[in-house]
Amino acid sequence: MVYNLSKGVPIKEESDERMIERMKSLQEQEQRLRKTMDKVKHKIAIISGKGGVGKSTVTANLAVAFAGKGYQGKVGVLDADIHGPCIPKILGVQGERLSVGPPGVFPVKGPIDIKVISMAFLLQSERDPVIWRGPLKMAAIRQFLTDIQWGNLEYLFIDLPPGTGDEPLSVIQLLPDLDGVIIVTIPSEVSQLVVKKAITFARHLNVPILGVIENMSGFVCPKCGSKTDIFASGGVKEIADELSVSILGEIPLDPRISKYSDLGLPFIVNSPNSASTEAFMRIVEKVEGILKKKEGND
Ligand SMILES: Nc1ncnc2c1ncn2[C@@H]1O[C@H](COP(=O)(O)OP(=O)(O)OP(=O)(O)O)[C@@H](O)[C@H]1O
Ligand SMILES: [Mg+2]
Repeated sequence: MVYNLSKGVPIKEESDERMIERMKSLQEQEQRLRKTMDKVKHKIAIISGKGGVGKSTVTANLAVAFAGKGYQGKVGVLDADIHGPCIPKILGVQGERLSVGPPGVFPVKGPIDIKVISMAFLLQSERDPVIWRGPLKMAAIRQFLTDIQWGNLEYLFIDLPPGTGDEPLSVIQLLPDLDGVIIVTIPSEVSQLVVKKAITFARHLNVPILGVIENMSGFVCPKCGSKTDIFASGGVKEIADELSVSILGEIPLDPRISKYSDLGLPFIVNSPNSASTEAFMRIVEKVEGILKKKEGND
């Protein structure tokens, strides 16, 4: 007999039948997850140590860039920021609802037929908070990965909340074949410290790091083209060298990025000739190159 020590009462033991049932159901869940995710060729998560550094902006625009490269309808975005979902707003599909019909639940279609899943599509009102602990959040992410009709995708980008908590951990545990993480940071001293944490986190969990993006990296004057460093610069390169991770690129600050994001318009489409878009597209080329190389090695 097993006792609950704090109450001094015997704990009801699980019957063998009940335990077998539970194990079977877990196995079934795992098989369904694999079946859905096997149809997704590349899975990339976007993480950061600190909040507000541009993860969601990067995720949404990566999806748009890849969808525009001949992968219309083959790109998905999972907004795994359960408490602060904002991908729908950036991709201009805020207020939409998931459609249900045989054979299941379908993602919302964004620009260039990007398939989007977000907690925001399940909330009554955008002001409703989600007050959940870790296990519930993991269950929600598991369902998003398992029970959604993603179909055959070339790329799935996963936007995560800041830090190294439940959501990134869940995604990494649920997707052992993740191509890797992209770490977004900004060039300030505090951010340099937290980017180290994000790198260490990924290394601990044996997830490949595709590279670091330094966002808000200086301000390029739209009138004269001169660059001003708003935050202390250079630190990200030092960390990248010290910890042997590559820098995918630097995206300058541009007020049009937040303006367009707030309007639900991807900035790379709406300010195609800006320094930020040019920098972003160089990053896209690099990511594509890394994934192609990986594909060749697999
Ligand atoms: N390069 C940039 N220039 C100007 N504004 C930017 C740039 N990158 C992001 N922003 C703006 O900064 C704000 C934060 O960006 P975003 O929401 O993408 O960050 P996040 O890392 O996802 O935040 P959170 O940690 O809260 O999820 C947004 O208003 C966004 O439009
Ligand atoms: Mg975000």
